[in-house]
Amino acid sequence: MAEEAGFTTMAGTKAASSAPEIGVGMLGYAFMGKAHSNAFKKLPYMVYPPPAIPRLIAIAGRNEEAVKEAALRYGYETYYTDWEQMLRDDRIQLFDNGGPNDTHAGPCIAAAQAGKHILCEKPLARSAKEAAAMLEAVTRTGVKHAVAFNYRFVPAIRQARQLIESGALGEIYHFRAVYLQEWLADPNFAMVWRLTKELAGSGALGDLGAHIIDLARFLVGEPRQVSAITQTFVKQRPLPDGLGVGQVTVDDAFAAVVEFENGAIGTLEASRFSPGRKNYQALEINGSNGSLRFNLERLNELEVYWKDESPRETRGFHDVLVTESYHPFGSNWWPPGHILGWEHTFVHEIAHLLEAIVNDTDVAPYGATFDDGYKNAVICDAILESAESGRSIHIRY
Ligand SMILES: NC(=O)c1ccc[n+]([C@@H]2O[C@H](COP(=O)([O-])OP(=O)(O)OC[C@H]3O[C@@H](n4cnc5c(N)ncnc54)[C@H](O)[C@@H]3O)[C@@H](O)[C@H]2O)c1
Repeated sequence: MAEEAGFTTMAGTKAASSAPEIGVGMLGYAFMGKAHSNAFKKLPYMVYPPPAIPRLIAIAGRNEEAVKEAALRYGYETYYTDWEQMLRDDRIQLFDNGGPNDTHAGPCIAAAQAGKHILCEKPLARSAKEAAAMLEAVTRTGVKHAVAFNYRFVPAIRQARQLIESGALGEIYHFRAVYLQEWLADPNFAMVWRLTKELAGSGALGDLGAHIIDLARFLVGEPRQVSAITQTFVKQRPLPDGLGVGQVTVDDAFAAVVEFENGAIGTLEASRFSPGRKNYQALEINGSNGSLRFNLERLNELEVYWKDESPRETRGFHDVLVTESYHPFGSNWWPPGHILGWEHTFVHEIAHLLEAIVNDTDVAPYGATFDDGYKNAVICDAILESAESGRSIHIRY
């Protein structure tokens, strides 16, 4: 009865007792270290029965005092100040890379060589060349690999994908996405790793743009060609210690026009100079039968419009609350309308990867693999090349 009413059952007859344990080694203990650790802990009792039970073996970082505190806070059994040493720990089967972009390639390639499955934060690498080496390593060693494009695991986004995949939206004409934040609009905001090409690869493009590029590929398909511009509004910023200034060597914003293989056209834009915009990732897709709209700051909702809906007097965009037990991921959580947050996307993403590890299933097409990370990097490189050369660039993987 509970299911008919759209309610989730709070505890089933199924048990987690037979689920295997998977030892986790985490690199980085700041923003993503916190988000991923939180998901590992929630997963075994919310995604029930769990495909596997993450065992938090170790966390790595450079500062001993801080990494020791992180291990205590998140419940890791031990810590390392050297990730190479952590990768020699036999108890670890899954390496989770939440370090800055310059620490993605080396540790991920070493983890693959050590036979560890890998979850790596996005963007996979600072360039397509670097991403290709990472893809080669995981392909050669046969480990499972995923890139943390977590927005694929927002229930409303997965629902959008299902509507498109089923043909309900018809032929896709347009994909329009923006990802806007405000935190760099203050010219006195100090230098961070995200502002140098050496550490980050690119700026708003790799940080925010990579997410909407991934959603474009996930929802509409492969881009054929891009044309783009970039801008760096503030070229020097104070160093964090207040002694001098550092050079900003990445884009502060980009805008791109995209043509897809299937004939759809689209626009992509990202900026960290948008006062008032906190984490505004919004997209709209127009098809021959209707339209979809999504806004990350209202992530439980999917706006839909059906062209032939009747009665015509009430035709218009509807706001669908994607929280029923029959919506994607809904059965794991709460009764309808008891909304989810940003952090839950990581629970879905990691559960999907654990399922692939335990049952030897594919991470693709619903999860992003290193192949997706590589293709994403090719598109990012093409956007930079277009901005530099003033030409349209064909996408070649
Ligand atoms: N999926 C998402 O929504 C999302 C959101 C934010 C960041 N990210 C990505 O996650 C990654 C990390 O970003 P963040 O915001 O957590 O960064 P952060 O600066 O908050 O944390 C980086 C962590 O890595 C550690 N670190 C830095 N250099 C290191 C080194 N050489 N060796 C070992 N540890 C090192 C730092 O001490 C810190 O713990 C980036 O690739 C970023 O693009 C993804």
